[in-house]
Amino acid sequence: MNSKIIGTGGYLPAKVLTNKDLETIVDTTDDWIIERTGIQQRHISEPGETTSSMATKASIDAIKSANINNDDIDLIIVATTTPDMVFPSTACILQNNLKIKAPAFDVQAACTGFIYAMSIADNYIRTGTSKNVLIVGAEKYSNLLDWSDRSTCVLFGDGAGAVVLSAKPEEGIISSHIHADGQYNDLLDVKNEQIRMKGNEVFKVAVNTLSKLVDETLEKNNMDKSDIDWLVPHQANLRIIKAAAKKLSLSLDQVVVTVDRHANTSAASIPLALNEAVKDGRIKDDQVILLEAFGSGFTWGSVLLRY
Ligand code: ACO
Repeated sequence: MNSKIIGTGGYLPAKVLTNKDLETIVDTTDDWIIERTGIQQRHISEPGETTSSMATKASIDAIKSANINNDDIDLIIVATTTPDMVFPSTACILQNNLKIKAPAFDVQAACTGFIYAMSIADNYIRTGTSKNVLIVGAEKYSNLLDWSDRSTCVLFGDGAGAVVLSAKPEEGIISSHIHADGQYNDLLDVKNEQIRMKGNEVFKVAVNTLSKLVDETLEKNNMDKSDIDWLVPHQANLRIIKAAAKKLSLSLDQVVVTVDRHANTSAASIPLALNEAVKDGRIKDDQVILLEAFGSGFTWGSVLLRY
């Protein structure tokens, strides 16, 4: 059996924090943030909102759009770097919220977490172990940010996205590719519960690595860049996204961009972008979609799929 996406969902907190709002918090400007990152605003959760509560809302949306029942889900994977607590896992909290009786676990691969989760789910489906996997990317980065550090607090936002991946005879996930290289761990980490990033150095490695990842993904499948209908990249920085689009000779019209409105929601960014483009009708049945991400670890990966 193949693994096919049969439903998508998303949730963004109602509260919006604009670049102008940030000008009153740190020494920054709307112009600087837009020019360097493409970000105009981000969503920030209310104090009562948690990673699991956002994951629950995105999951309900995804299960509804998949037109299945909660009982049909036989595996739950949550990609997050901002779990509600060390344990129980956010996936177990979600499982209880949804009253689903299925194994549930978290995956932590920073901004690449959703790609890792898709790759794991694909293998569970291909081996016949699972039939309907709920895969969620959910993050509450507002808790992790040092709101006095202008080099990081302007970059991130909160939210959750979800998909249901199901066993189907027709083509779905064509291939998935996951990687890690721990030698760069000090360029982007969380110490004393706050993010530290050498942004410029991360930027260079991200652009080079994503370029090689595109080659690897296409070569593995004997495909040409012209076979790709849509790029749905991790949303860290519009300049990184544009470099990836250029590598694929894609115009920005074939790239799903949400970084301007969501900022970087880490593991949630790809499922949120995918959900948006599926629901507004841009992504259509049978199109070939490339998902790709890069994040702390470093970790990076791609999923090529037929929608
Ligand atoms: N407002 C105004 N000035 C700022 C701000 C700000 N918010 N932040 C930094 N600056 C200043 C710096 O102090 C520096 O000033 P200086 O020249 O006087 O020293 C100047 O702007 C340039 O700083 P750089 O860090 O070199 O700026 P750069 O163009 O590299 O942009 C950015 C920074 C946006 C962070 C970029 O490097 C980037 O996007 N990096 C990659 C991020 C990424 O992909 N991370 C991986 C995923 S995240 C994850 O896994 C959790």
